[in-house]
Amino acid sequence: MTKTEAQDRIAKLKALINDYRYHYHVLDESTMSEAAADSLKHELATLEASFPELITADSPTQRVAGEPLAKFTQVTHSSRMLSLNDVFNTEEVLAWVERLRKLRPGVDLEYFADIKMDGLACALVYQDGFLQTAITRGNGFVGEDVTLNVRTIENVPLQLRSRAGYEHLSIGRTEIRGEIIMLKADFEALNRQRAAEDKPLFANPRNLAAGTIRQLDPALAAARPLRFRAYDLIRPDSSEIPTYSYAYQALQQIGISANQQATVFTDITEVLTFAQHWDAARHELPFNTDGLVIKLNDRRLYAELGVVGKAPRGAVAYKYAAEEATTTVKDIILSIGRTGTANPVAVFEPVVVAGSTVQHATLHNADEITRKDIRVGDTVIIYKAGDIIPQVLKVLVELRPKQTVPFDMEAELQRQYPELDFERVPGEAAYRMKNVTGPLLLKRSLEHYASKGAMDIDTLGEKNVAALIDAGLVTDLAAIYALSEAQVLTVDRFAKLSAQKLVSGIQAAKQPLLERFIYGLGIRHVGAQTAIDLADAFGSVAVLASASLETLQAVDGIGTVVAESITAWFADADNEQLLKKFEELGVAPQYESHANGPLHNQNFVITGGLEAMSRDEAASKIRNLGGNFQSTLGKDTTYLVVGANVGAAKLAKAAKYGTKQISEADLLELLGIK
Ligand code: IVH
Repeated sequence: MTKTEAQDRIAKLKALINDYRYHYHVLDESTMSEAAADSLKHELATLEASFPELITADSPTQRVAGEPLAKFTQVTHSSRMLSLNDVFNTEEVLAWVERLRKLRPGVDLEYFADIKMDGLACALVYQDGFLQTAITRGNGFVGEDVTLNVRTIENVPLQLRSRAGYEHLSIGRTEIRGEIIMLKADFEALNRQRAAEDKPLFANPRNLAAGTIRQLDPALAAARPLRFRAYDLIRPDSSEIPTYSYAYQALQQIGISANQQATVFTDITEVLTFAQHWDAARHELPFNTDGLVIKLNDRRLYAELGVVGKAPRGAVAYKYAAEEATTTVKDIILSIGRTGTANPVAVFEPVVVAGSTVQHATLHNADEITRKDIRVGDTVIIYKAGDIIPQVLKVLVELRPKQTVPFDMEAELQRQYPELDFERVPGEAAYRMKNVTGPLLLKRSLEHYASKGAMDIDTLGEKNVAALIDAGLVTDLAAIYALSEAQVLTVDRFAKLSAQKLVSGIQAAKQPLLERFIYGLGIRHVGAQTAIDLADAFGSVAVLASASLETLQAVDGIGTVVAESITAWFADADNEQLLKKFEELGVAPQYESHANGPLHNQNFVITGGLEAMSRDEAASKIRNLGGNFQSTLGKDTTYLVVGANVGAAKLAKAAKYGTKQISEADLLELLGIK
């Protein structure tokens, strides 16, 4: 990126992030998720790092957040309300433990892990058991007095329960810190009601909770179902609360909610398992969470270890991978699905979302692209929850470059598939290939899959393919591996012996050579030679499937069109399913390197007819020995194999290039056949 381009991008990013911050901090509204904003801030910081002369004092990267609002009475906290340092993976958790071990050698550490709630921090001060003040975090030292609003929260007791063994907590000052949240179900119900009343929808539960607490009308607060969940209990004599586990137990006794999931561990690996569990199960919780809080259970040790910056040494926030990120759309390509529909797929600048790299997402259909106005060159927010496939949430129009054009499905079909005819399916959003009826495409692709150059299953010729598909026994390529003799016998065409032969022929093809398997998939523009090049470059289907456009294009002989076609094929959710099914049914392609073959680096062109074998057979034998089979004569052709009835022009061209001309007999010798 040039400096001028960077300047332009930085200006746009700053404007968008500042707008987000203004809505978030001043209006308590959310224009995008925190994860998406973080993603933009990260891009800005990266650009600023490359062009430090472009950093200005008003850049969002140069700010600190969280001053208390003047409209509330300000209250000084009894002790600073701290933040937590974030850790994002196992290594960082273990590094934290390592630091603690160095500070306290030989001490057995006990950990207390709780779900990190995504809400608004609040301190409740009880005097002699009665709720006296509720204070927001503010800047950590001074917060806002929001008592009137907090008093409307049903699960905040106005008086603490006095229980045997815990009476002392109703004497003197008891401070309870925790999070004000809104349950997902309550939030959704509110938004449904808003939608029915044609009112704008709230962005997310946290913002709504924060917005409700940080406004001056308690009646409004009362109308919104908020909850409080504690994570800390503070007494003037800290020795009364020796551990966090004791604090949680005491909180429950005095009538304050805390998360039931919180657990004590003595082994950090168990904490990591707990974290993994909640990372996967987080959507089952009634409230939003973005991680775990892990702290030392022993509060004296925790206090002794002190604070660095704004965070205690004795605790960390283990953050789950963000489920949203921003990236740019590099291309929109069309893949043809099994039924002949054209499926648009966005190709992105690779970005990590929810722990895995995302480089493409289905855009569903032309209407969806138009509705979201997704264009090549756009910056988009992409979203991924758990195992769900990534989706484009929205376009950040503010970051759109000048020269973009709206996506035009029909023009793209023309450009990407000039040889095919498409029509829009009446009443549907899909475009489908014309003249494709029933399982025609599946029949063609299975014939190809079983053909000599691919799996070479000779019992699976055109007629058998048609019979099996028409009988409904085969619904995709992988389904052939699940066929039993008994099933095949139900089809008229087959008798005991032929059914047996078919099934055993298919089963025998379960460990094909990788390049034959890739070729057999029938990816557009991937012929036998390209399949070999891909096998050599990537070594497995999984690596090929996750290759980026650039990596594909870096393979010799693979240009943009082929790379796009491969990307589109692997991005198609149906194909992803298909590959999974192959694997489940035990199909395991084997890679054998061609680099050591005797014909390595030698390029062959065959002209005229051969006697001993077909051209395809010859090509396949050449490739098996590491040679390349070319369709047209070029400067890099090593041998021109001259068969029967060859025109003079070809020979003249070979002579001009200095290509060595050999006979069919010479070829057979090179192939080790004679
Ligand atoms: S313990 C030093 N436990 O997350 C603060 N905090 O990013 C130790 N939070 O300031 C707090 N759920 O507002 C703790 N189960 C939980 C929490 C939790 C949410 C908030 C809290 C804290 C912030 C740190």
